[in-house]
Amino acid sequence: MKIKALLFSLFVTGSSLAGAQDINLPTPQKQGGDPIMQTLSERKSTREFDTTKEIAPQDLSNLLWAAWGYNREDKRTAPSAMNRQEMSLYVITAQGAYLYDAKQNLLKEIAKGDFRKSAGMQPFAQTAPLNIIFVADLDKAPGNDMMFVDCGFISQNIYLYSASAGLGTVVRGSFDGEELAKVLKLTDRQKVLLTQTVGYPAQ
Ligand SMILES: Cc1cc2nc3c(=O)[nH]c(=O)nc-3n(C[C@H](O)[C@H](O)[C@H](O)COP(=O)(O)O)c2cc1C
Repeated sequence: MKIKALLFSLFVTGSSLAGAQDINLPTPQKQGGDPIMQTLSERKSTREFDTTKEIAPQDLSNLLWAAWGYNREDKRTAPSAMNRQEMSLYVITAQGAYLYDAKQNLLKEIAKGDFRKSAGMQPFAQTAPLNIIFVADLDKAPGNDMMFVDCGFISQNIYLYSASAGLGTVVRGSFDGEELAKVLKLTDRQKVLLTQTVGYPAQ
């Protein structure tokens, strides 16, 4: 087993806090990174990924916290119209589909297996190590399509963390929402709004 895969498996937990197959993430690192102006200079979309490298657990934890983690008791790294906080982030990796639980800093397993073929029609999405799926709770969502605006802030956080950490990413409006809803076991009051692929850039 590769060292990274071994390390990752150490985070798979059977503790009482998490279900048997949930993955505890390392504590996110909230210090450091590139200065903001340098990060903005390097922000870009990437569509060619190293398909042999999984996202390291620390990078994954940092990335998800930067995207939509809590930076105050009940508020988050991205703004939210009327503070509805209607967005949830799901992740699809080669191992399974998971819901990011920002409060407990863990990935809650939805389904085991490689569902990357369902993550998007563009070939790179099907082989990249990570796809993040933006899902809105329609019962919480504010009116006037503000939920799409909320999505944009989270997406930009992913772009900025990726630029700072040497990861590549591209936000994608091209996805099959019905297919993703099946994989993620969404209810009819949950809607996929956006997707974003992340990985280490191809050399
Ligand atoms: C809402 C939105 C949807 C997008 N959808 C896709 C997509 O489905 N596939 C893709 O390859 N790029 C997609 N992009 C990325 C844009 O093509 C990209 O941001 C644009 O070409 C500018 O390049 P840059 O991000 O490197 O500045 C999308 C961007 C946005 C903002």
